[in-house]
Amino acid sequence: MIPLFATRAAVEPLLEQILERQRAVVQSGRYILGPEVEAFEGAFATYLGRRHCIGVANGTDALTIALRALGIGPHDEVVVPALSFFATAEAVVNAGAVPVFADIDPDTHCLSAETAAPAIGERTKAIVPVHLFGNVAPMGELNELAAEEGIAVLEDAAQAAGASLEGRMAGSFGDAAAFSFYPSKNLAALGDGGAIVTDDDDVAEAARRLRNHGTVAPWVHEQAGYNSRLDELQAAALGVMLPHLDDWTGRRRRVAREYREAGLGELVKLPAETAGAEAAYHLFVVTTPRRDELAGALATTGIESRPYFTTPLHRQPGMAIHARDPMPSAERLAAEGLALPMGPALDRESVEAVVDEVRRSLAT
Ligand SMILES: Cc1ncc(COP(=O)(O)O)c(C=O)c1O
Repeated sequence: MIPLFATRAAVEPLLEQILERQRAVVQSGRYILGPEVEAFEGAFATYLGRRHCIGVANGTDALTIALRALGIGPHDEVVVPALSFFATAEAVVNAGAVPVFADIDPDTHCLSAETAAPAIGERTKAIVPVHLFGNVAPMGELNELAAEEGIAVLEDAAQAAGASLEGRMAGSFGDAAAFSFYPSKNLAALGDGGAIVTDDDDVAEAARRLRNHGTVAPWVHEQAGYNSRLDELQAAALGVMLPHLDDWTGRRRRVAREYREAGLGELVKLPAETAGAEAAYHLFVVTTPRRDELAGALATTGIESRPYFTTPLHRQPGMAIHARDPMPSAERLAAEGLALPMGPALDRESVEAVVDEVRRSLAT
């Protein structure tokens, strides 16, 4: 049996340390917005090279709150890639704005300036590049495009903790960035969690206010916000894990290299890193027109694989009123993409077994 995610084995050695920190939280009786959240926010901001980090309840709220903190609201349009997890577009709707879909680059699976530009119009207020599967969108050209258009950039870095582009961490490029600590993520809580990072004092202040019912002083609520705080128990666990993220990312990159070295690229299309990027390989998604057949064959030999986002955002029933023209690259990835086993604890033997099985099943 080769699991799709082998994250648990990497976290196992830290379990005692995590439980010790969480025991101290339980004994302190302080569960919401206490010292663990503050410490983690400081550590994560420093790790990313950002001035502010605001811990929230999950990655979806991180996106929604960040959009609102950036001043996005009713009647504003926000450009999002046509292929991502639903939350990327959902957050735009929940912030009161209108998602406008743009196609992805067929190789990197992310928005590029070329694919985003046609979706920008008079009402566009922001673009949300998604660092899909742990790759990093080409932030240089996207920031340039946004500057020309006078619009904001919110990075959806939910899948990209630990990734970098030209030496800068994913999440450090946009006006703000949103992270998810959902349990399957590269930096994972033991439940839900998320964070917003930014260098802008006003955006940070607005996000802090919004995550806590719009509170500006005891019992004074300046606006309707959310009950969306990262909690102390999750922050304690994340605080233990963060120092290990670079090691885990390195191991994921080693697995990606081993897939390439074992000749997987001769059998299926491999994911391409954006020029200058060191992807964090949250998922290792290959593309083949024989996707469903391949997934079936792998399952019979105990190798887990999974198609991701098989319905692109512009074809989701919940986005029907925002539907757009065909998006060929997004549709192709939805129809042909397959995530193969990936994780910091995956060994070379397993990688080679996966490649052998892909070779065998596609040989006929
Ligand atoms: C690209 C992307 N954006 C947003 C989210 C939302 O994060 P969460 O599940 O923590 O709400 C996720 C993950 O679930 C994601 O993969």
